[in-house]
Amino acid sequence: MHKPTSPEPSSSGSSDTWWRGAAIYQLYVRSFADASGDGIGDLAGARAHLPYLAELGIDAIWFNPWYPSPQFDAGYDIADYRSIDPLFGTLADADALITEAHALGIKIIIDVVPNHSSSLNPWFIEALAAGPGSAVRDRFWFRPGIGPGGNQPPNNWQSIFGGPGWTRITEPDGTPGEWYLHLFAPEQPDFNWDSPAVRREFEDVLRFWFDRGVDGIRIDSAALLAKDPALPDYSPDSGDPNPYTDLDEVHEIYRSWRAVADEYPGRVLVGEVWLPDAARLARYVNPGELHTVFNFPYLSCPWDAAALHQVIDQTLSLPGEAPATWVLSNHDVDRIVTRYGRADTAFDLQRRRYFHGFGADLQLGTRRARAAALLTMALPGAVYIYQGEELGLWEVQDIPDELRQDPIFYRTHGGDPGRDGSRVPLPWSGTEPPFGFTPAGASAVPWLPQPKEWRDLTVAAESARADSMLRLYQDALRIRHAEESLGDAPMSWQPSPDGVLAFDRGPSFRCVTNLSSEPVPLPPDASALLASGPLDTGLLPPDTTVWLRIG
Ligand code: NOJ
Repeated sequence: MHKPTSPEPSSSGSSDTWWRGAAIYQLYVRSFADASGDGIGDLAGARAHLPYLAELGIDAIWFNPWYPSPQFDAGYDIADYRSIDPLFGTLADADALITEAHALGIKIIIDVVPNHSSSLNPWFIEALAAGPGSAVRDRFWFRPGIGPGGNQPPNNWQSIFGGPGWTRITEPDGTPGEWYLHLFAPEQPDFNWDSPAVRREFEDVLRFWFDRGVDGIRIDSAALLAKDPALPDYSPDSGDPNPYTDLDEVHEIYRSWRAVADEYPGRVLVGEVWLPDAARLARYVNPGELHTVFNFPYLSCPWDAAALHQVIDQTLSLPGEAPATWVLSNHDVDRIVTRYGRADTAFDLQRRRYFHGFGADLQLGTRRARAAALLTMALPGAVYIYQGEELGLWEVQDIPDELRQDPIFYRTHGGDPGRDGSRVPLPWSGTEPPFGFTPAGASAVPWLPQPKEWRDLTVAAESARADSMLRLYQDALRIRHAEESLGDAPMSWQPSPDGVLAFDRGPSFRCVTNLSSEPVPLPPDASALLASGPLDTGLLPPDTTVWLRIG
């Protein structure tokens, strides 16, 4: 059983900096466990499975948005930042969940979405009713259109989900009116962070949840928050993937959030700064601002020793005090087993369609995903585990079009398959769908269909199999906790042949990953603590990681 977090300093830092070396489980509520039987996961389902997570050995859970929402973007369109969507439960359920998780030694991080709101948020409804030039419209980005009759959007910005980044409204008097900015779906109007009301609101939202006992906030779209009020056209030649950002203002906002978090010792701010390029990411990391940012360069990296070596080095030299975070996958990207089974093992949001064009060797992908899991969990810093990664679930690429839910699929007219394939509900037990995701006798089927082959990947099936992905994750997390030199402590690269990554954590722990196509010799005086696959005598086979006791 997982040890409750000790108040004493540990390999993860002091109890106030627990997050520096933590293992954080991403719980995508709607796909985790459904207790109510409506086919959608909920907080009661999450509460019922907290012992599973304690047994897995994680330190914290990050919950994707759980707020009241029309669910146009799976909850990333928030109508009320201080409550829980009835789909998922009540505020009392959230309180109980926080208390029960804490009793098991598990911290809670929640998602806050400050870049944009929901078109059903009372502020936006008020802004629509109030008319042009009103103070309440200033909380969003309303602008007159350009050209004859204001028929053209104010600038050329496109929505990240496809299509234009602006939508025209009808004014209260029935005339064609202003346009509003939405970097995502039209149902997600962007907030104007130049508005003091917006700033005050989010400081208050942070306090609301910190006061309820949450231990951290994951800040959605953290790089996009601040726009140049001149709203200049985007020039594709600028080479900047973030044309919207006023970087100075972003830093100022981060500092104001940090000042709030600092009032609550032990709370962490994790920024979702979606930049797959480490040099650009570095521009968002400053002392006294966000505590950490997600490591998208690592998440996007192909299964290639030189590329991984480089991205690990770049990550470890990020400026400031931020510890590294290691992320293999999340609810926005293809599942790792599928990715690593393709001819091209990189990932890029803009090229999802291209990646889906490849076949995937799931056996090879699983083997590599196991090796990647041990590599990742041996690196210095925090590690994020996206639910289902511990079961080796694959990307479900054959969801029928009529069952798809992701706005990306619809806004690109099917050009981009979107993210549903990584969001399919978890298989818990049994031999056929719904695999215990919904309770017996449930009135509804899971909100996305589960492949029948997942009968071998249920929690129950994997708990019973010593060589399962689940058992590998449990063993790895147990060792990670027990080893003083893991977590947030330094690493040192060791000499290794081409295609092999070898590094030590302290004097007696070595991690070796073989990404080459040939077996490589293991150090003679070392013994294996854990391996991602069977070892040949004295040899480490391809696509395998071993943790060694040395010295
Ligand atoms: C990033 C989130 O991870 C993603 O799921 C969401 O669609 C966008 N931000 C918009 O909120």
